[in-house]
Amino acid sequence: MNLKADNPIGIFDSGIGGLTVAHAIKELLPNEQLIYFGDTAHLPYGDKASYSIKHYAVELSKFLLNKNCKVIVIACHTASSVAYEEVKEIIGDQAIVLNVVDPIVQKLIEVGKGKIGVIGTKGTIQSEIYPNKLKGLSGSMEVRPLATPLLCPMIEEGFINDNISRTVIDSYLSQEQLSNIDKIVLACTHYPLIKKQVNEFYENKVEVIDSSEVVAIHLKKVLEERGLLNPKRNEEHHFFVSDYTQAFEKSTRFFFGERVKLEKGSIWS
Ligand code: DGL
Repeated sequence: MNLKADNPIGIFDSGIGGLTVAHAIKELLPNEQLIYFGDTAHLPYGDKASYSIKHYAVELSKFLLNKNCKVIVIACHTASSVAYEEVKEIIGDQAIVLNVVDPIVQKLIEVGKGKIGVIGTKGTIQSEIYPNKLKGLSGSMEVRPLATPLLCPMIEEGFINDNISRTVIDSYLSQEQLSNIDKIVLACTHYPLIKKQVNEFYENKVEVIDSSEVVAIHLKKVLEERGLLNPKRNEEHHFFVSDYTQAFEKSTRFFFGERVKLEKGSIWS
């Protein structure tokens, strides 16, 4: 592996929701150049067959590799759950490949006990990635996954702090599956935007694990260990999408904290 510290960090997601992860990375690692790809042409991944997600994820990774990325971060929880192995296999040792599930699993293992709620798309929950990864690792940990498919479209439409969002959030979090939990994992790119509302529902008595922050911290550690932290950023960030609309560009502000210019990229080889 001949990776250079001043090479960019590649990040991909099914759409622009992964900008929450890009934002957390930018905040923690301001010297790094980011190349982001949102596969808006194939959004949402949460309802897609795993073979489609694997295919898209591999093509997106090749795109980022062609941009000389030293790391490829699979920001999408659904793609991390079903396509990580395929991406790793295709990229080999040409770049470091990170997913958003393993750093959270690692964090949970460190604590090692309690009832853990996990909310995410149908794809993430049906993959059973969290119960499988945590199985047998700790006798006193119980994983309680729940698919919450209404949350993504709700957040994308800007319903995060009103009667509609409160009704949807309360209805999901009141399910038997999520009762008496100690922690809840926000296992989706979009959910950091409703972290406050989830905290309010649980009256701050349940630890809410924001995957975007956990992943940024993990990435920093990996770069430090490999001597790949960029001391100074000379290049601009780039944000690509496979399907450009003004609406996507407008929503970048919502997910990234500032509006960014989207470029049309193609993942068809
Ligand atoms: N990015 C997806 C995830 O984190 C959510 C949106 C979608 O279904 O594509 O699972």
